[in-house]
Amino acid sequence: MSGKTQADRPAYRSKEPDAAGYYAYSAAEDTVWGALFDRQMDYLPGRVAPDYLAGVEALGLTRAHVPQVREIDARLAGLTGAGVEGVPAIIPPSRFFELLSQKKFPVATFLRRREEMDYIEEPDIFHEVFGHCPLLTNPAYAAFIEKFGKLGATLGKPYSWRLFRLFWFTVEFGMIRTPDGLRAFGAGIVSSPAEAEHATSGRAEMLDFDLMTIFRTPYRIDILQPVYFVIDSFEQIEAALDADIAGMIDEAKRLGDLPPRFEAAA
Ligand SMILES: [Fe+2]
Repeated sequence: MSGKTQADRPAYRSKEPDAAGYYAYSAAEDTVWGALFDRQMDYLPGRVAPDYLAGVEALGLTRAHVPQVREIDARLAGLTGAGVEGVPAIIPPSRFFELLSQKKFPVATFLRRREEMDYIEEPDIFHEVFGHCPLLTNPAYAAFIEKFGKLGATLGKPYSWRLFRLFWFTVEFGMIRTPDGLRAFGAGIVSSPAEAEHATSGRAEMLDFDLMTIFRTPYRIDILQPVYFVIDSFEQIEAALDADIAGMIDEAKRLGDLPPRFEAAA
């Protein structure tokens, strides 16, 4: 999920599974996956949440080949009752919230081309599986995803825009405080070399996790993030969703957005 709309035309074709639910990847695609996997696994230790690296291990992700959605799904089911579902690159918000409410993370199944190793606008399977799936092995994180999906499905369209901001500043670009210092956990950071460097460089602004501030903070999807929010634990964000979220979003709308920390998109 990248915050893009269905109107954006995908440059990649989504893959279709065979009758047994397997997706076909070429040897060239396995090589691209392996290169992406190696690069991030070399870079991330000491920069990402330990729970994330434990999740990579628990899911059995390796450099050898592009993982299969159904195998990730089975592993997650056994660990936290979470799961994944293969989807076309962009799905409508209602479907997105519905899947999350069932603890199912939507996964685009195409893989980027070698020319786009460093940057890809649409989320591909490297972003989805390597970025998002490891933390679904964490019970509190998986519970957060489920509660978030239920909120989105229940509150509907007038609330989705602010809920996407919450998703953006946690699931995509969240940072977490650990005994060893700040660590990344958002999928947009862990799956991107440039974002991982930027987020852990000490140059970016770090704010404590605060729902109201997040609901009022605009973001852009096409730049390195100028500000990140730092959580204390996954239990913290899960518990935060027990608040009156609809009431808070109404209040956030009344107060209006905080000044953006970036130039407007051209
Ligand atoms: Fe994502």
